[in-house]
Amino acid sequence: TRVLSVASECAPLVKTGGLADVAGALPGALAPLGVHIRTLLPGYPAVMAKLDGAREVLRDGDLFGGPGRVLAASHAGLDLLVLDAPHLFDREGSIYLGPNGSDWPDNPARYAALCWVAARIAGEGLDGWHPEVLHCHDWQAGFAPVYLRDRWPDAEAGAVITIHNVAFQGLAAADRLSALRLPPSGMQPDGFEYWGRISALKAGLVWSDRITTVSPTYADELLTPEFGTGLDGVLRAHAEKLTGILNGVDLEEWTPPYRSLEGKAGPKAELQRELGLGRADGPLCVVVSRLTEQKGMDLLLEALPHLLAGGGQLALLGSGEPALEDGLRHAARDPNVAVRIGYDEGLARRLITGGDAILVPSRFEPCGLTQLYGLRFGTLPVVTLTGGLADTVIPATPAGLWAGVATGLQVHPIEPGALARAFDRLCALWREPETWAQMARNAMRHPVGWDRSAAEYAALYREVAG
Ligand code: ADP
Ligand code: GLC
Repeated sequence: TRVLSVASECAPLVKTGGLADVAGALPGALAPLGVHIRTLLPGYPAVMAKLDGAREVLRDGDLFGGPGRVLAASHAGLDLLVLDAPHLFDREGSIYLGPNGSDWPDNPARYAALCWVAARIAGEGLDGWHPEVLHCHDWQAGFAPVYLRDRWPDAEAGAVITIHNVAFQGLAAADRLSALRLPPSGMQPDGFEYWGRISALKAGLVWSDRITTVSPTYADELLTPEFGTGLDGVLRAHAEKLTGILNGVDLEEWTPPYRSLEGKAGPKAELQRELGLGRADGPLCVVVSRLTEQKGMDLLLEALPHLLAGGGQLALLGSGEPALEDGLRHAARDPNVAVRIGYDEGLARRLITGGDAILVPSRFEPCGLTQLYGLRFGTLPVVTLTGGLADTVIPATPAGLWAGVATGLQVHPIEPGALARAFDRLCALWREPETWAQMARNAMRHPVGWDRSAAEYAALYREVAG
């Protein structure tokens, strides 16, 4: 099957979160199953700098305010199509935010351009390559199926959209309709209209043939007002198109430098030294996260005294909302808490390697990747019971422990008191080294690779391709 994947970020070229990891991993995971994925992404400076031997394969003189062209190149095993449109993407700093910290005002047009080019390639082909499936990721790719059906009505390609996070919709003012080249007939509640505005994500949901999200539990949650953030009604109306397919991790890239828990002692001691932490009587808990409301870092701050009282330590790496950064810096005055604000892939890996447990106390989590890294590295996940966290961790409940299958702890309900109690349990488990070791063995054996999910995507693509 030939697939055109459309994403606003893709590892290892440009990444702000798990979307990049997934967009970057799917092509390699699916190639052995006979799926050929070409990935279309914007030509941000970071991407342009990494292209060599690129050749121009398409030109467009009028791409939402300036000319653009598509460059074909390969990088890190990916078959890339890069949209070089300097008026939209040649900007320094964050890919989504301007210097004042809010969205670039022309974000709708920037990603509409990406979608336009995607639809054109799906509709007309590229040098004789005709994709059978247009796979859109998140709101940034949401207009592509609309353009394809509206402007290239004879195209045979099927369209799939994957929701990585429903909280971001890509809203634009209603008066942008014609500038965004959208069909006026779509500006209604059954179309892409959302409370008087234009929603790029809703467009993708309505116009795609199939909708996926990144875990089965999040697929169910999305149909409820609590998690659907205003799109649950639309999703219920299209529920027969929706399925959840769990994310995986690249097992080669994420291989621990040890085979059993004993091997952790060295990396743990080095990590403690690096972060200025002493030895402790409890588990060293690590966090690698964006610091936003979603990730529950305020819950962590409230429950933290229980971890410290139990002899535990906290080592955290992340960046995001200033208030959370400040709160965490403040917490780091405790000698058993180390906080590093920033984005650092090397430190992220050292934390996951050297930590005893990894904390993911999210309020909602479509899938989550760091708990999967934790499983693989025998770094026991402590997660809230939501989304992909619910689908990937086997909790140390009496049932899980007596059956000998537990891999971590699950926190429910999602509030600070329950997290505090989970810290108490975690510290108690630490004082039962045999149980802890058994859980770590279970965790390290737990399948977190792409195998099963890659097969599900391949089957979905075959269906959509007809
Ligand atoms: P989300 O996409 O919601 O941020 P995920 O758990 O799916 O959450 O993916 C986050 C990805 O970004 C993981 O690969 C994680 O290791 C990485 N990451 C997050 N914050 C940082 C950071 N500060 N430094 C390095 N890597 C980070
Ligand atoms: C989003 C979600 C995260 C998921 C990632 C990749 O960023 O917040 O839970 O793992 O996408 O699908």
